[in-house]
Amino acid sequence: MSGKLATEYAAWKKLQEIYDTQHEKLVLKDLFAQDPQRFAKFSREFVSDDPSVRILLDFSKNLITEPILSNLLDLVREAQVETWRDKMFAGEHINTSEDRAVLHVALRNFDEFKINESGVDEVSKVLAHMKEFSESVRGGAWKGYTGKTINTIVNIGIGGSDLGPVMVTEALKPYAKRDLTAHFVSNIDGTHLAETLRLCDPERTLFIIASKTFTTQETITNAESARDWFLATAKDKAHVAKHFVALSTNTKAVTAFGIAEQNMFQFWDWVGGRYSLWSAIGLSIALVIGFDNFEQLLKGAHAMDKHFKTAPLEQNLPVLLAVIGIWYNDFYGAQTHALLPYDQYLHKFADYFQQGDMESNGKSVTKDGRRVNYQTGPIIWGAAGTNGQHSFYQLVHQGTKLIPADFLAPTTSHNPIDHSKHHRILLSNFFAQPEALAFGKTEQEVRNELGPNASDALVKSKIFEGNRPSNSIMFPLLTPATLGALIALYEHKIFTQGVVWGINSFDQMGVELGKVLAKNILKQLDKPEDVTGHDSSTTGLIHYYQKWRKE
Ligand code: F6P
Repeated sequence: MSGKLATEYAAWKKLQEIYDTQHEKLVLKDLFAQDPQRFAKFSREFVSDDPSVRILLDFSKNLITEPILSNLLDLVREAQVETWRDKMFAGEHINTSEDRAVLHVALRNFDEFKINESGVDEVSKVLAHMKEFSESVRGGAWKGYTGKTINTIVNIGIGGSDLGPVMVTEALKPYAKRDLTAHFVSNIDGTHLAETLRLCDPERTLFIIASKTFTTQETITNAESARDWFLATAKDKAHVAKHFVALSTNTKAVTAFGIAEQNMFQFWDWVGGRYSLWSAIGLSIALVIGFDNFEQLLKGAHAMDKHFKTAPLEQNLPVLLAVIGIWYNDFYGAQTHALLPYDQYLHKFADYFQQGDMESNGKSVTKDGRRVNYQTGPIIWGAAGTNGQHSFYQLVHQGTKLIPADFLAPTTSHNPIDHSKHHRILLSNFFAQPEALAFGKTEQEVRNELGPNASDALVKSKIFEGNRPSNSIMFPLLTPATLGALIALYEHKIFTQGVVWGINSFDQMGVELGKVLAKNILKQLDKPEDVTGHDSSTTGLIHYYQKWRKE
């Protein structure tokens, strides 16, 4: 972020020239045929201090050569990613538009990096509070207002105050306390809360109100309605203390809501919403999987932080993922990036990184206000394998779009049904899909298969052009520490790309306009004559609603 547009870097210009002159010659089939060492050259393994936590990144099935990779890494150097990374770790206010530090790494630091920012010294105190509280709920010492133990938790939050806890509690279900049910309510649509409350007993339910700002309309409205539902049975407001806790930076708003300060778990403005699962926002995670496992999650992330901070760029997994993404996003014109975990427990992984990536890098001006003349963050999407194979993979294999994808899988399943029969089938698909994408099926192969009488049309429909790139990411088992490392891997990928693109990955101004307009419209919904100041489409839609509503 040296004030330049990315296209002004010499390395960018060089990459453009390489793309223009060479991309038609970059054919995976040939690249593999020419170099039997390609896998060895283009794969890296991250191993944490705890050797059971390791991640293999195979990026050999990408449209790159060693000179291209070296130019991509030059781009990272020219954009001063390492300097900006060190600024982040030191607590400098790199979120310039909000004048804030960006310190999710401080939440999982274990006193390793020296960080100068107020609040950092309070992290261990809040963790101790989370430990004590989660253990007392899980152990049954924490009782509801009628003396019964808690058997249900309901996290009420949205965006980063929801997606991280949802994704992680799903991913780490094998570690969950199965007799403690966790629900997550995010949507303002009353259906979300109503259907959840149907499953809850007010005497045994703990509500966790998760909101960094404690002003988010959805969360506060849902929290108020949950409190009304609870008080309809409990009657006495004093009972709220046993059934409502808050996770927030806003003590004043939390106490105004009626939650006592001792039932509030604090965090700090330098924790971005989409980077907050490591903070008090992770309380529901600690409740579900236990504090020790939550700590393992933090430790795994910390190990990846150390790797990102110290590994040479050529070995640095987040940096490698980032530059490969830039190669397709900015030179090949790819619009999207698919996250395809072959692990049912990771079925929310792509949803989580939709916010993580798209809210971070969905920007079109640089930090100093210049309009970019290149693409920034890709559209992130995906689903757990093999389900995706039976829905959208058709387009990935034979459609007209280039869709770079990350395939992720554990070598070992938590559920080795029938001597891992299922897992072997799952992994055979995990290995096959990137292979099919990369190498395809030629016309000759199709003709050989179909015989001489096959029509041309049928032959053409069965050709797989191939040359579709992907990364393959493997790890031994989806443990808390491995998941922590995986999430941090993608966080730092996003950071690296943001620095190269010169944007601020840590604000989210783009979500504001819709919120303001909705507040204004809300005031106009009662009477048709109040509906003013809109275009004819918006006015027409509101009038239609007013005509047909039943409340
Ligand atoms: O959607 C905007 C946003 O500010 C996200 O960045 C954030 O994760 C979410 O709203 C929830 O915010 P809060 O935790 O303050 O309720």
